[in-house]
Amino acid sequence: MSDVVFITGATSGFGRAAARRFAQAGWSLVLTGRRFERLQVLREELQGRVPVHIAALDVRDAEAVRQVVAALPEGFRQVRALINNAGLALAPQPAQQVALEDWHTVIDTNITGLVNVTHALLPTLIASGQGASIVNLGSVAGHWPYPGGHVYGATKAFVEQFGYNLRCDLLGTGVRVTDIAPGMAETEFTLVRTKGDQAASERLYRGTTPLTAEDIAEQIFYVASLPAHININRLEIMPVRQAWSPFAIDRDPQ
Ligand SMILES: NC(=O)c1ccc[n+]([C@@H]2O[C@H](COP(=O)([O-])OP(=O)(O)OC[C@H]3O[C@@H](n4cnc5c(N)ncnc54)[C@H](OP(=O)(O)O)[C@@H]3O)[C@@H](O)[C@H]2O)c1
Repeated sequence: MSDVVFITGATSGFGRAAARRFAQAGWSLVLTGRRFERLQVLREELQGRVPVHIAALDVRDAEAVRQVVAALPEGFRQVRALINNAGLALAPQPAQQVALEDWHTVIDTNITGLVNVTHALLPTLIASGQGASIVNLGSVAGHWPYPGGHVYGATKAFVEQFGYNLRCDLLGTGVRVTDIAPGMAETEFTLVRTKGDQAASERLYRGTTPLTAEDIAEQIFYVASLPAHININRLEIMPVRQAWSPFAIDRDPQ
């Protein structure tokens, strides 16, 4: 029987590209996300090649997560890799201008959602044992501060630390945990962050060479398919054309 990968946020970007990458290697797919019609299209594309199970899921809803995991059909229950990819940023403005509701949405998705899915699948992953993987999508924003990063970067710092702490508790189970921390990648991420501003999204990626969803999918697949004795703790990936800036200094007017 083929290995099973459970992907959150498979309707777009890294999650959808990861579904295609795992399918290419013959894995069975559990694909989740809120936009069910997109999951149907992806299932249509991939089910000729590998078994595909789709489920509409908002990761913020712990009970819904529990039900989706409990209702996994035969052939999809022994999950070997969990890709905790669902996530978003909102409100690129300075912290003091952001609606509290947007902060809550980001925290509920990137932290609570990731924790919900991890908790629901831990018993299965532990039963799978040696070579099972949890791959969490962190971000460079979890490590490096930048203006407008506020709660988004803080949720990704949580993802990094949660992964390390999980590793401590999972020692001896054979389950691996990885924080993949991408820099700038062109997906629907900026469209979501700007609440649908297509021009802003295009402006951000124009004139440079961002990472692609396929670049990150390749890394996700890589860490989940390494020999069972290897754990990549954290993998930070940037485009060559992205780097850090000097410290910003507040100066008196001249
Ligand atoms: N692109 C970048 O530059 C970048 C860099 C570093 C890290 N990341 C991280 O990588 C991950 C994937 O982002 P992406 O770039 O691929 O963005 P994307 O194209 O916008 O995809 C995000 C995915 O997350 C899902 N999602 C959002 N909220 C959800 C919820 N409440 N429940 C279930 N699914 C939800 C979306 O599906 P539905 O809307 O259909 O639910 C979508 O499939 C995120 O965690 C993001 O923070 C992105």
